[in-house]
Amino acid sequence: MAAVALNVLPQPDGSIAIEGQRPSTLIRPVATRDAEQIAGIYNYYVTNTIITFEGEPVAPDQIARRIERIAKSHPWLVFEDSGTVIGYAYASRWHSRCAYRLSVETTIYLAREQLGRGIGRQLYGALLDALRVSDFHCAIGGIALPNAPSIALHESFGFKKVAEFSEIGRKFGKWVDVGYWQLIL
Ligand SMILES: CC(C)(COP(=O)(O)OP(=O)(O)OC[C@H]1O[C@@H](n2cnc3c(N)ncnc32)[C@H](O)[C@@H]1OP(=O)(O)O)[C@@H](O)C(=O)NCCC(=O)NCCS
Repeated sequence: MAAVALNVLPQPDGSIAIEGQRPSTLIRPVATRDAEQIAGIYNYYVTNTIITFEGEPVAPDQIARRIERIAKSHPWLVFEDSGTVIGYAYASRWHSRCAYRLSVETTIYLAREQLGRGIGRQLYGALLDALRVSDFHCAIGGIALPNAPSIALHESFGFKKVAEFSEIGRKFGKWVDVGYWQLIL
């Protein structure tokens, strides 16, 4: 599948405009104050799906601590529509050992009523561009299977499947496989 090119326009305030984006929408760096809305988005997937392997809802103050820790060194972006955060994407370090420092694991979640409208493509594109600007080299997406929309999203940006672990997770009384997709930035 061909990689998607987005016309991303960095703004003076640190936010990012995408050519053709609706004027009420904005992609910008996360702030600690977004924690509550991010928890609202994420906890639906924690409680109802195997997409994330977390088992218990995550409190907003825990999300705030994650934001503070991760956004110090890696990009974390939110997608806002008319002032409401409806999705977020971030990168975090793949492994702690020194030689892995330019490799990241990337993650994206949208509010469940916003799926399939092209928002994931805009937000993930902005995250990958932010990673390139910061000279990160390798992005890895771990996808609990099945997840057709996430596979399509990753492959549309040129990620290639490099691994699949069978029965590596257990949630809701079932074994879950996880595939890994890699992109050299
Ligand atoms: C995965 C996710 C971020 C994709 O964002 P999205 O806004 O729904 O997807 P988009 O509308 O931007 O479409 C992106 C690609 O996925 C494809 N796609 C979207 N929904 C799909 C579906 N239900 N089945 C198959 N493909 C789908 C689109 O056709 C598009 O592919 P293309 O560029 O080759 O045409 C979003 O669905 C989501 O948040 N899902 C729940 C959380 C999640 O799974 N996160 C990823 C964890 S690994």
